[in-house]
Amino acid sequence: QYTAAPFIPEGPLTLPALREAAAGCEGCPLHRNATRTVFGAGKATARVMLVGEQPGDQEDRQGKPFVGPAGRLLDRALEEAGLDPTDAYVTNAVKHFKFTQAEPRKRRIHKAPTLREMTACAPWLAAELTVVEPELIVVLGATAGKALLGSSFKVTEVRGTVLEREIHGHPERLVPTVHPSSVLRSDDREAAYRGLVGDLEVAARVLS
Ligand code: URA
Repeated sequence: QYTAAPFIPEGPLTLPALREAAAGCEGCPLHRNATRTVFGAGKATARVMLVGEQPGDQEDRQGKPFVGPAGRLLDRALEEAGLDPTDAYVTNAVKHFKFTQAEPRKRRIHKAPTLREMTACAPWLAAELTVVEPELIVVLGATAGKALLGSSFKVTEVRGTVLEREIHGHPERLVPTVHPSSVLRSDDREAAYRGLVGDLEVAARVLS
């Protein structure tokens, strides 16, 4: 069974200690092909934690979550909803980029992580929740939803609502929404974008 558990540092958890330990994580096979671990980013004092799926190509190159096209769209949507992107802790359910590549130097195509890989990586997300203790978790898309709320999670059923659940032993409030990449892929991008902003406005109201 794959798990990151043996890589979690002992003693009082801090974000720098977690980030350093996660850089060496070999808890599942994804570390073999990815360039580096992309750990969460933001302050330990952040009131809101945003959870995506896994780093993309740009994130894998730069070592920071949500710095590519989906991240730019997310920042814009957060601002429009009245949430300050610099006051959010941003992370992913899976911390290594999973991709297929037809040939070396060809484009790396994102591949969805499996439940085993999500489960293996969960101790990192649990540790981030322990340190940050966010007032609210914004769940970005189906993978993050399954990682946090279980495999029966359906984003269409619960998006834009406030859920109260026990997550890794902590009572948490969560607002699920679509993944910003799905907005970029949508046939009606404007409508999809408005939907994302509307859900994030629900999150902003919880925090106000
Ligand atoms: N998509 C994600 O889910 N996470 C990122 O960090 C970037 C793109």
